Amino acid sequence: MFKLGRQIFCSAERNAFLAKKIIASFSEKTAEEAAKKKVDQKNKDFQTVYRIIHPEKKGFILAAVTSAISSGIFMLYPKLIPQLSDLYANKYEKIEESDSDEQKLNKQKNNQNTNNAYLKFFLTWGLVCGVSGFFNFSRRYINGDLGNRISIRLRQAIYNDLMTKDSTFYFNKSVNTAKIIHKLSNDVSQVSQSVSMDLFIAFRGALFITGGTGFLLFQSPQLILPSLFVMAGLSVSSRFFGNYQRHYKKEEAYDLTKTSEQAQEALQNIKLIKISNTEIKEQIDYQSTLARFYNSSKKVQYWTGMNFGFLEGFGLYSLIGILGYGSFLISSGLATPELLSSSMYAFYVGLGVRSIVNTYTELKKTTGLYDGIVSVIGTDVTQSQTYNNPKLIEEGQEYLKLQRNNAEFYQQLYSNNTATLHQSKPPHITLKNITFKYDEYGTERQLLSDLNIEIESGSVVALVGPSGCGKTTVLNLLTKLYQPTSGDILFDGQSLQAKDSKWVQQNVSYVTQEPMIFQDTVYYNIIYGNQGFDTSQEKVIEAAKMANAHDFIMSLPEGYQTKLSERGQDLSGGQRQRLILARAILKDPKILILDEGTANLDSESEKAIIQDLKTISKNRTCIIVTHKIENFLGFVNKIIELKAPINSENKLQQEKSEDEKAN
Ligand SMILES: Nc1ncnc2c1ncn2[C@@H]1O[C@H](COP(=O)(O)OP(=O)(O)O)[C@@H](O)[C@H]1O
Ligand SMILES: [Mg+2]
Repeated sequence: MFKLGRQIFCSAERNAFLAKKIIASFSEKTAEEAAKKKVDQKNKDFQTVYRIIHPEKKGFILAAVTSAISSGIFMLYPKLIPQLSDLYANKYEKIEESDSDEQKLNKQKNNQNTNNAYLKFFLTWGLVCGVSGFFNFSRRYINGDLGNRISIRLRQAIYNDLMTKDSTFYFNKSVNTAKIIHKLSNDVSQVSQSVSMDLFIAFRGALFITGGTGFLLFQSPQLILPSLFVMAGLSVSSRFFGNYQRHYKKEEAYDLTKTSEQAQEALQNIKLIKISNTEIKEQIDYQSTLARFYNSSKKVQYWTGMNFGFLEGFGLYSLIGILGYGSFLISSGLATPELLSSSMYAFYVGLGVRSIVNTYTELKKTTGLYDGIVSVIGTDVTQSQTYNNPKLIEEGQEYLKLQRNNAEFYQQLYSNNTATLHQSKPPHITLKNITFKYDEYGTERQLLSDLNIEIESGSVVALVGPSGCGKTTVLNLLTKLYQPTSGDILFDGQSLQAKDSKWVQQNVSYVTQEPMIFQDTVYYNIIYGNQGFDTSQEKVIEAAKMANAHDFIMSLPEGYQTKLSERGQDLSGGQRQRLILARAILKDPKILILDEGTANLDSESEKAIIQDLKTISKNRTCIIVTHKIENFLGFVNKIIELKAPINSENKLQQEKSEDEKAN
């Protein structure tokens, strides 16, 4: 019994021992990993900052030189203390009538010396302050300019990246345009300001430390020890407070982004808000988002204040302490009064340490912000060609000279040999075993499976089916906005994969479900996307007449030069649709794709437009998505019905043929 109990105890003991050992080794390992991770992160932060400033390194060198000179001048100011005491020794002596000649001469000489001493004092320091003023101006100006240049680089590189991104990026559910725009404006400003200013604060700090320590070593090594103490105090406290600042700064940035997202969404849905009479609810929602931002911002300010207050209090007290200690050394005969100016250097050293530690915290926040930008747009643009283009800003100045919307310029920009790409006749289109899958929050969804469609050359095909069955997706595949997961799309037997987006632009007109209109003139909106084709006034009018848009355009205050409002909201639904049709047919495309173009119209306009489509679709291969097939029966050659995907499992789309060529 006893033996057994002991055995159990022993094994229990052993288990505990083993468990401890495992835990120990585990935590050792994680501590090791954490340490490694920390070093990696630190390296990463420095690399990020380096990559951000890299293309502007000339400016940074210039700023460093001016900064060094202005700091060097600043290092001269403690010299003022002994000079003042020298100056104090010079007095002005009044020459009396009763003075002997010799006395008069001596006094005159003395007064002359006093005059000279003051003149020298004012002139020297005047010169020093003047030079310092100039270099401080240069330092500040170059720093500010660098900030602007970095922000322009970042914005242009992000914008270029956004424009050239695969269109599937924008169909991703986690992509939010308000968030992107917020990053592009707010966060980019913060990052560029921080790298251009903070680095120099740290640089100045480093100069103060080396200069101050140099003077101390040279003049009064007795003060080294107390200044080391000040350094330690300042850096430890700054690190401590800085950690809190950084933590809440992240929260603050997140909450600020939320306010932008919310405002943009509300403004986009303003009509719904108005008719739902939910203005007050929206105001309260925004107010609470602002309050959340305020709370996190307040915490940032609290810890920034703590940091600041402690640094000022402790910093000043340490200066006083060093001065006191200096007095003690002087009165004990251990040092000369020169020491008092040296004590200022001890303070400089402390200031330098403070700047470096603070900047370290700031730059960590900055790289955090930059990482936030990267996580939203998905690309580290500092490695891109645009960002590192040495002439980026100068090129921008060149483009500034071009008039915006200079149609001729844009024609030239795109007009290299595009005519060779033109289809001579409407193509036969084949969708061969098309499968399309997409990722939805980590789950794979299959929308199209093994879809086979034949579209005869010059025919009109209607794509029908319940909402969400993938009609728009098929059109996106046909225009290369999407890539099929498997299968192929053939135009006259040639794979679409082998054709580029330029080929698509030259041969396909795609009228999307949502009318896309720029806040610009009617003319600009019609010629948009028609580069490489004749976009003269006559041709534009011809296309507008064909789309039955000419009459309403002429009734606008400035005809084709009338500026439209955001998303063309000052036009009726039918007018918008006609405008977009005019854009679509201006280039006389051999392939015309329309996505529920008439779905949002009143039946009158719808019927009228469908009538026009009959003529417009002639001599083109047309694919039309519609909910109201009955309206199209007159001229549709084939109806293709897509079935709703039941789940991610296999489902077959049916193809229904209907021969009803142009009655
Ligand atoms: N890349 C994608 N990411 C997420 N969802 C997608 C993607 N492509 C299509 N979908 C989803 O597939 C469904 C079908 O879309 P769509 O082709 O627009 O249907 P339809 O035009 O027939 O109404 C929708 O629910 C849409 O959200
Ligand atoms: Mg659709």
